[in-house]
Amino acid sequence: MSTRAVPVAPRDDLGLVEGYHSPQVDVSVRLNTNESPYAPPDEFVERWLAELRATPLNRYPDREARDLRAALAQQLGQPPERIFCANGSNEVLQTLLLAYAGYERRALVHEPTYALHSHIARITGTEVLVAERADDFSIDTDAACDVIADVQPTVVFACSPNNPTGTVEPRETIRALIDAAQGLVVVDEAYGEFAPHSAIDDVRDDGRLVVVRTYSKVWSMAALRLGFAVAPPWVVDQLDEVVLPYHLPAATQIAGRIALEFDAEMRDRVARLVSERERLFAALGEIDGVAPYPSGANFVLFRVGVRAHAVWRALVQHDVLVRDCSGWPNLEGCLRVTVGTPDENDAFLAALRAALTEVAG
Ligand SMILES: Cc1ncc(COP(=O)(O)O)c(C=O)c1O
Repeated sequence: MSTRAVPVAPRDDLGLVEGYHSPQVDVSVRLNTNESPYAPPDEFVERWLAELRATPLNRYPDREARDLRAALAQQLGQPPERIFCANGSNEVLQTLLLAYAGYERRALVHEPTYALHSHIARITGTEVLVAERADDFSIDTDAACDVIADVQPTVVFACSPNNPTGTVEPRETIRALIDAAQGLVVVDEAYGEFAPHSAIDDVRDDGRLVVVRTYSKVWSMAALRLGFAVAPPWVVDQLDEVVLPYHLPAATQIAGRIALEFDAEMRDRVARLVSERERLFAALGEIDGVAPYPSGANFVLFRVGVRAHAVWRALVQHDVLVRDCSGWPNLEGCLRVTVGTPDENDAFLAALRAALTEVAG
């Protein structure tokens, strides 16, 4: 960040907010941001472009994204009144915090977790409270319920599978948080389809559970920026009030609706990635000095010890980019690799073996 004096200072409290950036390095094998390695089907792209060509671009998009919500609701077996869509799940999270958090309100996160939960909370002026996880990275339910009873946050975050650890929370944990909370319980399921179960079926019209999902990962649509919440209708109404008018471009709405017709292709991509994840996990476990953590997502966290940053740099030299998590809370010595194509995963494993030898030597 530049240290030059600026004519107008930003809000004082923003000085405490650190930026969130994954370093982008020019390499051939990019396994650092948990995107899908597979593009969506050509037929999807053709259908999307054809519909886009027939769309009057001089007109604002449907403000309520009704067709997209209806299609998503049908796919999820939920009423359309429970669906809210925005530009990526990050915008969904931001809208939730704008509506329910902010000045003199608190949000609870369980570290280590997705950094944007606390980052967006701070930007919205929300006080962030941190509960620690158990040694296996699962949420420590008793500790979390104690903090909730003490400070009554208006937003309790859970992330399942959790980024960056891959941990899938048991259903009982989410239910215990719901029972303890008086505010919203927001379960971020950005990687939900890679996991064995989801909290979506626990959303109730008179409940406090909100589940957030994205098209960026399993739908292979990170470039299009689309995420959504499944929430009680009174929450959805509030999010509609707070979000900017016409926030979701027509191109995104159309893409999101048409993508759902390629559900079988999505499931096939997910199955391939889950099977590669298991192969990667097993292969990492066989490398001396490497300890992978079980994952229900499309990435694997692994510990390489104190030399983690040196290993990360050596991997870049070998043309492979992973995420260096070693400076994150409770993740000393850890790196995170996104599951790629079989060739990319092989390239990563070969590079890791070489990097470990070089760093040791
Ligand atoms: C847990 C989690 N939630 C949300 C997001 C944001 O996704 P989107 O691209 O939908 O904004 C990510 C992206 O990596 C993530 O890991």
